[in-house]
Amino acid sequence: MTLTPKRAQDSLVQMTELVLPNDTNTFGNLMGGRLMYWMDIAAALASMKHCSAPVVTASVDNISFENPIKLGNVVHIESKVSRAFTTSMEVHIRVWGEDPVQQYRYKSNEAFMTFVALDPNGNSRPVPKIIPDTEEEKKLYESAMSRRQMRLILSGKMKPEDADALKAFFSI
Ligand SMILES: CC(C)(COP(=O)(O)OP(=O)(O)OC[C@H]1O[C@@H](n2cnc3c(N)ncnc32)[C@H](O)[C@@H]1OP(=O)(O)O)[C@@H](O)C(=O)NCCC(=O)NCCS
Repeated sequence: MTLTPKRAQDSLVQMTELVLPNDTNTFGNLMGGRLMYWMDIAAALASMKHCSAPVVTASVDNISFENPIKLGNVVHIESKVSRAFTTSMEVHIRVWGEDPVQQYRYKSNEAFMTFVALDPNGNSRPVPKIIPDTEEEKKLYESAMSRRQMRLILSGKMKPEDADALKAFFSI
């Protein structure tokens, strides 16, 4: 069965949350774990939008928290599928904080997560390919293969000698 490719933009999910006291650490900033929970949901929704099927989180790439988000600030999370492979999808997630009183936004962090589509029996199932349109979508699409190979090597699912895209990347 051939699945019709879909535009990256069509998978876009925008989530907005308010940092409440129960979301914070002892410094009055958003807890990393709470943010990762929201990111996981936003990214899962983007991948489900793309493949029209239930998904599970297969992996989370490294996340660096660049700026803390303060109590009472707003969290904006944007997620979009950057590339789809056979049954898995890489999702790009970006996070900003916003001071709703002073009305300025600041970047918090970004990450890549991978989701796998499942059929009713819980087996992985094929997903549609992605069509990147914008320059940014094309860059993310192109670089996704090296990121995929890196995470598969790190999880012990690929031999380093089979990672063609990574070899090409490092030989530049
Ligand atoms: C993710 C999962 C479905 C993969 O199952 P699997 O038996 O390893 O399946 P396969 O080897 O057939 O791989 C299926 C896809 O997952 C991808 N995959 C597997 N492990 C991966 C990893 N660590 N990182 C990224 N992708 C991964 C494979 O590359 C493959 O993608 P492709 O079809 O696009 O090439 C399975 O490990 C699982 O269910 N994990 C638990 C998921 C979960 O519960 N998440 C919530 C957090 S606990």
